[in-house]
Amino acid sequence: MPPTLLHIDTSPRPTSTTRRVTAEFAASWRAANESGTHLHRDLATTPVPHINAEQIAVTQRIESTGLRDLAEARAAARTPAERETWSTTWKLVDELLAADTIVLGLPMHNFSLPATFKAWLDRVLIPPLVVDPETGTGPLAGKQVVVVTARGGAYGPGTPRHGYDFQEPYLRAALGMVALADDLSFLHAELTKSAYVPRLAGFQRLAAESLKEALEGARKHAQRVHL
Ligand SMILES: Cc1cc2nc3c(=O)[nH]c(=O)nc-3n(C[C@H](O)[C@H](O)[C@H](O)COP(=O)(O)O)c2cc1C
Repeated sequence: MPPTLLHIDTSPRPTSTTRRVTAEFAASWRAANESGTHLHRDLATTPVPHINAEQIAVTQRIESTGLRDLAEARAAARTPAERETWSTTWKLVDELLAADTIVLGLPMHNFSLPATFKAWLDRVLIPPLVVDPETGTGPLAGKQVVVVTARGGAYGPGTPRHGYDFQEPYLRAALGMVALADDLSFLHAELTKSAYVPRLAGFQRLAAESLKEALEGARKHAQRVHL
C-alpha cells in the first residue's frame, strides 16, 4: 500500500518559516515516495470549527460506555446536530488514521501553539484513539511524527527563556496520549525575529544556522523509507 503523508500548516503568514520547512519536508517525502499520497491541510486558511456541546455530549457517551471500537464509536452520534459536528470530526480523524507520516508546522504563539491547531487537536483527540491502558497501545501507534516549530526568540538550555517553551512538552504529552509520541521528532527554527528587530540583529548568524539545521533535519526525516 503506498504511504500517506499528512502535512498540516498553521502559520497565518504565506512566507512563513514553518511553511518553508514543512514544504521542504513534503518535497523530500514525495521524492522518496513517488506513489504516495500527500494530504495538505492548511488550518490558517481553512480553520476547523471549535468543538461544541454536541461534540462533547458524544465524547461523554463514548467515555461512559468505555467504547474503544472505532466502528461502534462512529454510530455514537444520535441527533442531527451531533451527526453534523461529528462528520467534521471523523473527516479529520480519518486523515490521521490514513497517515503513515505526519508533519506539523507550528509557529510559536505566546510560548505555545497556534489556536487553530488547538482547535484541531480538541477535535481529533477522541477517546477511542487514546492509548489503551491494558494493551499500552492505540490505533495511531506506529506513525512517524515530525513537528516543525519557528520561534522569534531562542529557548535552548542556557538561554534566558529556557523553560518558557510550552510547545514541545505540551505536544509530547498530548500526542503521547494517542500513541503519536513513540516516533516523534522536533525541528526548531529559532531567532526568526533577528531578521527585523534591530536589538536582535546580532543573532542573525545563529538564526541562519538554526534554519539550515531545521531544513537539513526535514530532508533527513522525510527520506526515511516506509516498508
Ligand atoms: C501572535 C504571535 C505570538 C508570538 N509569540 C512568540 C513567543 O511567545 N515567543 C517567540 O519566540 N516568538 C513569538 N512570536 C514570533 C513567532 O514565533 C515567529 O515570528 C515565527 O517565525 C513564526 O513562525 P512562522 O514564520 O512560521 O509564522 C509570536 C508571533 C505571533 C504572530
